[in-house]
Amino acid sequence: MKSIALTVNGEAVRGTVEPRTSLADFLREDLLLTGAHLGCEQGVCGACTVMIDGAPARSCIALAVACDGTEIRTIEGFDDDPRMAQLRAAFTKEHALQCGYCTPGMLISSHDIVSRLPDADEARVREELSGNLCRCTGYVGIVRAVRSCLGETVPEVEKAPAFKVERDMPAPAPAAPPAAMPSGAPELLQSFTVAHRTDAVWAVFQDIEAVATCMPGVSLTAKPTDGHVEGQVAIKLGPIAAAFAGTAQVTLDDTQRSGVISGQGRDSGSGSSVRGEVTFTVVPFGAETRVDVTVAYALTGALGQFARGGIVNDLASRLTADFSANLQARLEGRAVETTEIAGGSLFFNALWSVIRRLFGRG
Ligand code: FES
Ligand code: FES
Repeated sequence: MKSIALTVNGEAVRGTVEPRTSLADFLREDLLLTGAHLGCEQGVCGACTVMIDGAPARSCIALAVACDGTEIRTIEGFDDDPRMAQLRAAFTKEHALQCGYCTPGMLISSHDIVSRLPDADEARVREELSGNLCRCTGYVGIVRAVRSCLGETVPEVEKAPAFKVERDMPAPAPAAPPAAMPSGAPELLQSFTVAHRTDAVWAVFQDIEAVATCMPGVSLTAKPTDGHVEGQVAIKLGPIAAAFAGTAQVTLDDTQRSGVISGQGRDSGSGSSVRGEVTFTVVPFGAETRVDVTVAYALTGALGQFARGGIVNDLASRLTADFSANLQARLEGRAVETTEIAGGSLFFNALWSVIRRLFGRG
């Protein structure tokens, strides 16, 4: 079990969750905030949509531990929001709901559209709503309701009191400086072997710039000084291009042939942030060398909802395979190719279609 502390509808909340607990389950079962509905539980239908750090996200595929330190707003947190009041009235007027199962997620996405795209035409509204499915197929009324609120002035209202979580929760966490890594951050273990002597492999790991050139999508923006690194990690997954700019500190232990890289970065395009700690050890493995790598990470913001184990494991295997091939090439004096993570698997193709709908890119 892992402890988490986050803000939900303006209230500081703490909880203890399994590493695999989704944000949706934490909200519904621990906080009794049942407005986020569960439909597909695989990131497709949008019924579970909530706001994470100001962006709509699917709570069924966001891990609760990955949301440690974030700000969550559920449909209950919009009770006194004037724009949401306009949307609720428009949904009623335009008969934009039948069974109502999709409505909480639909309203949160609609609120985001009306706030962000006041000039959206019908095609754009439909595209933006394409990540929310209505099994009653009431799309005509839904689109009409959203369009009727575009460009509307939001009435000034007295600030309503923050929504209260009706549950005996432990006392809020005292304000503390952000930790290097949140407790309970997911961890990945990857190993690969290189057909070279351990001394030669370790020599590459001692050269930060050499390691950076072997890492897919990594570029340094300044000369490393005393283990301090500044750079950028670019990830391209089909239509999604994220570039996390940030800094890292590299600490090496020559006697153990091991090291730790602690870093953090932010992608301004999606408003996502990542904090990570990479621990690696280089060990003899017969005539070859094995490299063991443990990655602990916390991904927040719009891309944080794709932090679920299967997705990250798939991505990590691709990165490790590319890094290993580049390292091998460098040790053999061959040119290291700049590699890009290619989407070959059915899993990634399915994921991209969801991402495309979510971000309206492609
Ligand atoms: S329950 Fe369908 S997207 Fe989350
Ligand atoms: S109103 Fe029934 S699922 Fe949308």
